[in-house]
Amino acid sequence: MAKPQKSDLAHNWTLDESCVFLNHGSFGASPKFVMKELRKWQDILENEPVRFYEKIAPDAMLNARISLAKMLVCDPEDLALVENATSGVNTILRSLEFSAGDEILVPDHAYQACQNAIDYVTTRWGAKVVTCRIPFPLEHADAAYDAVMSQVTDKTVLALIDTVTSPTGLLMPFERIVHDLEAKGVHVMLDAAHGVGMIPLHLDQLGASFTTSNCHKWLCAPKGTAFLHVRKDLQAKIHPLTISHGMTFPLGDTTRFRHEFDWTGTRDFSGHCSIPVAIEGMAAMVEGGWPAIMKQNHDLAIQGRNILCERLGISQPCPDDMITCIATLPLPGDSSGGIPLHDSDPLHEVLLEKYGIQIPVWTWESPKGRYIRISAQLYNHVDEYHYLADALATELNL
Ligand SMILES: Cc1ncc(COP(=O)(O)O)c(C=O)c1O
Repeated sequence: MAKPQKSDLAHNWTLDESCVFLNHGSFGASPKFVMKELRKWQDILENEPVRFYEKIAPDAMLNARISLAKMLVCDPEDLALVENATSGVNTILRSLEFSAGDEILVPDHAYQACQNAIDYVTTRWGAKVVTCRIPFPLEHADAAYDAVMSQVTDKTVLALIDTVTSPTGLLMPFERIVHDLEAKGVHVMLDAAHGVGMIPLHLDQLGASFTTSNCHKWLCAPKGTAFLHVRKDLQAKIHPLTISHGMTFPLGDTTRFRHEFDWTGTRDFSGHCSIPVAIEGMAAMVEGGWPAIMKQNHDLAIQGRNILCERLGISQPCPDDMITCIATLPLPGDSSGGIPLHDSDPLHEVLLEKYGIQIPVWTWESPKGRYIRISAQLYNHVDEYHYLADALATELNL
């Protein structure tokens, strides 16, 4: 099979040219100009480390928060720069205090690492995990909303809600869920790992207690960049995973939240310092900036899943309006055995080795089956989904 065409923008990335890269969703991919910016900051740091940490980094990190805050429509003072969404979620869970019997809502489509963090803290405090079963396939976002809201009791204190679910790629009706849970006095930890750069986020208006999002996924910032947003009224309760100087540093004209999160020990800030250039540079790639990027990626994901569904004879597991820039599809064929979560599906290896396609293939329990998840980013071309569909049709004997 002839290799598919690349998009006109693919030359901006250093992605392996022989690879049909359809998995932006897992770790993102940074364009060349972002990598150049990252190396620039590494050089500045190593040129004079003391000057960097004492004089340069504080302003550069503030600049990163200001750039993010403009995009997120929130106060930069409410943002902490963390390494990834897993640490964002852990920061909140490990800071909050729970009582025995408190209930924490977690949809069954939650990311396993975050579910593990919930299990860890609930066991320690004697609190209870309440699983919200989201139907899949589903015909309307209301089904996801109802699955969460129907589990609220007077013991519910917290809910872990995704913007977009990882295994099933569903855009949750998170705005409605956040609004209605917070109105009932239930704190929402919004897991927006697939968030900034993928969907519009207006954090002040949203009103979630806590939000975390990776910047290395859909913002295409360097790896190890993410933010945690904490609503002002809750900041005094939240401490970083690493307690450092900020806990006792004289307050001056700032907040304890700022002091604690701005210094958690010596670490490499170069990724975070590169965030403003990632935001501006990506926006400059497409006329219309970020709204146009989100629309283009969304349209391509829809096109990609239509191509696959038609070629493989699959029905769409959710409506188009629950799709963002990733889409999960069940593969036809016998799936009764299933592959355990941590094992690689042999089909993944076949697609990679034989066709050069990088795409996640996994087992999902409800309904049990074998699933793939496509991603769409500016470097992808519609031809790549046709190529994937042909490869799957061949391998699955369709
Ligand atoms: C919904 C969700 N939450 C959390 C994460 C964790 O992200 P990270 O590994 O960057 O912490 C992911 C990663 O894909 C995710 O999809």
